Amino acid sequence: MQKFIITGGSRLSGELTLQGSKNSILPIMAAALLGEGRSVLRNCPMLTDVFSASRILGGLGCRCTFSDGAAVIDPCGASGSEIPEELMREMRSSIMFMGAILGRMGECTFSVPGGCELGPRPIDMHLAAMRKMGADISDSGGRIYCRIAGGRAHGAKINLPFPSVGATENIILCAVCADGETIINNAAREPEICDLCSFLRKRGAEIKGDGGGTIVICGTEKLRGCEHIVMPDRIAGATYLSMTAAAGGEIILKNACVAEMEPFLSVLEQTGCRIYTAENRIYLRSGARLRAIRERIRTMPHPGFPTDAQAVLMAALAVADGASVFEENIFDCRYRHTDALNKMGADIEVLGKVAVVRGVAGLHGADINATDLRGGAAMAAAALAAEGTTCLSGISHIDRGYEKFEETVSCLGGKIRRV
Ligand code: EPU
Repeated sequence: MQKFIITGGSRLSGELTLQGSKNSILPIMAAALLGEGRSVLRNCPMLTDVFSASRILGGLGCRCTFSDGAAVIDPCGASGSEIPEELMREMRSSIMFMGAILGRMGECTFSVPGGCELGPRPIDMHLAAMRKMGADISDSGGRIYCRIAGGRAHGAKINLPFPSVGATENIILCAVCADGETIINNAAREPEICDLCSFLRKRGAEIKGDGGGTIVICGTEKLRGCEHIVMPDRIAGATYLSMTAAAGGEIILKNACVAEMEPFLSVLEQTGCRIYTAENRIYLRSGARLRAIRERIRTMPHPGFPTDAQAVLMAALAVADGASVFEENIFDCRYRHTDALNKMGADIEVLGKVAVVRGVAGLHGADINATDLRGGAAMAAAALAAEGTTCLSGISHIDRGYEKFEETVSCLGGKIRRV
């Protein structure tokens, strides 16, 4: 099991070009399974989750190769409709393939994505939507069987009880090749959904309204190949900014999606960090001690404050002057990083969905274990701000979402090595 050894206390400074978005490329890879023609996905982040997705595609009969920062996916040999259990367990977002496989093959067999990293993650909304589009769904021995009589899904009007990102994506993936029109009410508005739709439109799909609460999809017979540049990763951006805010220093993020990061930037700015944005660049300078955030930081679906940035901002606020309060409204169990931060000297109290972070004068190194992706990144940020050395294990979580994490941090002057 690999670990990061991080010695804190150095200011961070430098420029970095943001990686492509993990949460964008995964549904886009699933979408590449549909129709005919090769998809060339540029700005593809090289992440373990991306390699898991490519194994799923390979198992279905697609060709998926990587070169020069691009993933090239050719679905012409696709004939499978099953996702093996071990691949379902490897990556929770494997559920995203359900809609695409059903859309292409008219049937799909998979298992419930395992684990409880962020608390229970049910797929009831995904399944209810597939049923509305014509799927007959049964389960036995831990496997879920979905079949559409006649092999082709039909359009439907779907009202989501909550704007679930994954359910919205699965419906889009099934609806683009379905018979007739699908309307998703209360759809998720995350920028990654717009990226998926923009990829599908380039391939010939008819989709309107993405980015708003209602998405309308008109099913088409055929989708062609295309080239697409995956959007920058707003959460990786939030992570490197929070890290610099915590450790002190200055950073320029290049290839950043400034407008999409606004809900995060507007909160980070209240810590007293200087932030300037221009086109696709973000400059941040963190000098004096950070200020606590006065208003409660409530995680909400986009355009609210992103749940994926909660942990990394918390690492920075752990050393701020004063108390900040978080309210986690998306996942039931997304404060697992707080034990590690407290072990490093932070003063964080969790009361259900609320976490009270009383800023301390400094953190110290400790032996800690990453329990999930963003929590792991938060621990690394805290370690860079701490005095002394931290041994961070469980870093396979970090490799799921951050490309060349230690190289990026080292380039900024952070002392980190993988052992
Ligand atoms: N939910 C249900 N039933 C469903 C689907 C979702 O109850 O059928 C609940 C979930 O349990 C959760 C809430 O709805 O409490 C939101 O879940 P959502 O479906 O929106 O999230 P997701 O699609 O599973 C994606 C990202 C997450 C990100 C969330 C919220 C990907 C691959 N994952 O997950 O990213 O936190 O949206 O923005 O896109 C991460 O990158 O670290 C990460 C966890």
